[in-house]
Amino acid sequence: MKVNEIKKQQLLDGNELKPRQGQRRKKTSSKKQKIIRAKRKPPVRANIVETDDDLQVIEEERDIVFQPNSGPQTDFLASNEKEVLYGGAAGGGKSYALLADVLRYCNHPNHSALLLRRTNDELRELVQKSQELYPRVFPGAKWSERKSLWTFPSGARIWMTYLEQDKDVLRYQGQAFTWIGVDELTQYGTPYAWNYLRSRLRTVNADLPTYMRGTTNPGGPGHLWVKKMFIDPAPYNSSFWATDIENGEVLTYPSGHNKAGKPLFKRRFIPAKLTDNPYLAEAGEYEANLLSLPEVQRQQLLEGSWDIAEGAAFTEFNRDIHVVEPYSVPASWKRFRTCDYGYSSWSACLWVAVRPDNKLIVYRELYVQKKTAEELADLILTIERENDDKIWYGVLDSSCWHNRGQTGPSIAETMILRGCRWRQSDRSKGSRVAGKNELHRLLRVDEETGEAGVEFFSNCVKLISELPQIPLDKNNPEDVNTKIDYDHGYDALRYGIMSRPTPRGLYDFSNTDWKKPWKPADQVFGY
Ligand SMILES: Nc1ncnc2c1ncn2[C@@H]1O[C@H](COP(=O)(O)OP(=O)(O)OP(=O)(O)O)[C@@H](O)[C@H]1O
Ligand SMILES: [Mg+2]
Repeated sequence: MKVNEIKKQQLLDGNELKPRQGQRRKKTSSKKQKIIRAKRKPPVRANIVETDDDLQVIEEERDIVFQPNSGPQTDFLASNEKEVLYGGAAGGGKSYALLADVLRYCNHPNHSALLLRRTNDELRELVQKSQELYPRVFPGAKWSERKSLWTFPSGARIWMTYLEQDKDVLRYQGQAFTWIGVDELTQYGTPYAWNYLRSRLRTVNADLPTYMRGTTNPGGPGHLWVKKMFIDPAPYNSSFWATDIENGEVLTYPSGHNKAGKPLFKRRFIPAKLTDNPYLAEAGEYEANLLSLPEVQRQQLLEGSWDIAEGAAFTEFNRDIHVVEPYSVPASWKRFRTCDYGYSSWSACLWVAVRPDNKLIVYRELYVQKKTAEELADLILTIERENDDKIWYGVLDSSCWHNRGQTGPSIAETMILRGCRWRQSDRSKGSRVAGKNELHRLLRVDEETGEAGVEFFSNCVKLISELPQIPLDKNNPEDVNTKIDYDHGYDALRYGIMSRPTPRGLYDFSNTDWKKPWKPADQVFGY
C-alpha cells in the first residue's frame, strides 16, 4: 500500500495507526501517522478520497488527537527494530512519542506493555499526559491509580510505574510483556535493568510483535553504557545488529543452536533535536532557556550531543594533553600497581611509573571480569614477568582484607599467598574526596611546561574512555557519583595516586647519596 493510501485508509478506519515499516519498506515515510477518532458523522466512502484536498477535508472533519512531528518522531513511531533509543535534545518530543508508541497495539487483546520511569514524581508527568491522550484515542480506556494500570476496551493493558533501583526490576520476574519502554534511560547507572527487562519480553501471537523502546537526554549516570549500546555501533538513524557493549562484537546465537552464529536482533538510535518539535521550538522561549545553560549542559540538552558528559567530574581531562603514545619507561623510574577488585563487576588494575620529577605515568591497564583472587594474582604476575616490570609496591582496595566468611583467607591474603603482594588503600573517611582532589591537582596543566602531573598511555583505552564520563554526585559535588558501573579504573587510580608515590621511597637511600651531599643552589639564602 502506498503511504498516501495508508494515510487515507487510516482516516477512514478511525483509530488505527499504520503498521510498522516492514523490512521491505526501507524508506521512512515523510507523511505523518495519525491517531484519530471518528466523530459521529457518516463514514466517508473510500472512493471519494483521491486528492490531498480530500484528505484535508477529512482531517478537518475528524478530531485528530495525535499527529507525530515529521522527522525523528515519525521515524521513531515507524521503527521496527527490536530495540530503539530515541535520544537527544530536551523538548524534542521523546516522552510524548513513547506515550503514543505504546498505543500502537492497544486494539489487540493480548497487548501488555510496561512503561517505566525512575521515580514516582517523574512518572506523574507521563501519567498526566496519558490521561489527556488515551481516553480520547480509545474511548473506554480506564486508568487505575491503585494498580498503575491502563486497561483498554480490547483487553490490552499498559502498566505505568517507576523503577528506582536496578534490583527492583526483579519484581517483574515471571511476568511477560509485548512492549517495554523506559523514559530517560540514562538515569540507570548500569544496563542491568534494561537487560533484565529484555527477558520479560515475549509474545505468543504472531500478529503481536515485541518491542523495547527507550528515550533519553544524553548525560546522567548511564550515559556511557547507553552510548556504547546505541550510539557508538552505527551511524545515527540506521539499523544495526545488536552488539556486546564491552567488546563491540555482534551478539549471535551460540554454537549448537540451529541458528548458531546468526545475529540476535536489531537496534537503532534516532537522534532528537528541539527544532524537531514545533510545539516547543516555535515559541522560542524554551530554546532561550537552553541557550543560557553552561557549556556541557547546553551541548547535551540543546544540541543533543553524546560526546560530552553532563556533570562530568573531570572536565579538565583533555586527550591532547593527558594521553600520550606509549614509550619505553626507563628502568630507573619507580613503578607500582594499583587495583580495584571485583568478581561479577570488574577488576581494574593499573600500572604506574613515577618520573624523577614526580609526574605519574599510567602505562598499562588490565580490566577483567569473573576472575578469582588466585586467577587475578597469577595474571598480574605473568604480565609483570613478561614485561620485566620491577614493581615497587601494589595498592589494593582495603575491603579486600575483609574476611569473606568465618574461615579462609581474604581476597588480599589469597593474592599475597600467591606472591602478588599488596598494601591497603586508604579508605578512611574523606579519602574519596581527597583522592578526587588529588586527581584534579594532577590533571592541572602547568602553565610553564604545558604538562600535567599525570599522563596516560593511549593503550589504557578503557580508563581513557571512562574517566571523562565519570559524573559528579548531584548531592555532593565534592565527590563523584558512586552509582555507576564504570568507576573501577577510577577507583584504582584514586588508590594509586593517594599512596604517596614519589620518585624514590622514603627510606630509599643508595650509597651514592652519601657521596653526593645536598648542596643549596644559593649559598647565601640556603636553598
Ligand atoms: N506530536 C506531538 N503532538 C502534540 N504535542 C506534542 C507532540 N510532540 C511533542 N509535543 C508537545 O511537546 C512537549 C514536549 O515534548 P516531550 O515532553 O515529549 O519532550 P522530551 O523530548 O521528552 O523532553 P525532555 O528531554 O525534557 O524529556 C510535550 O509535552 C507535548 O505537549
Ligand atoms: Mg521527556
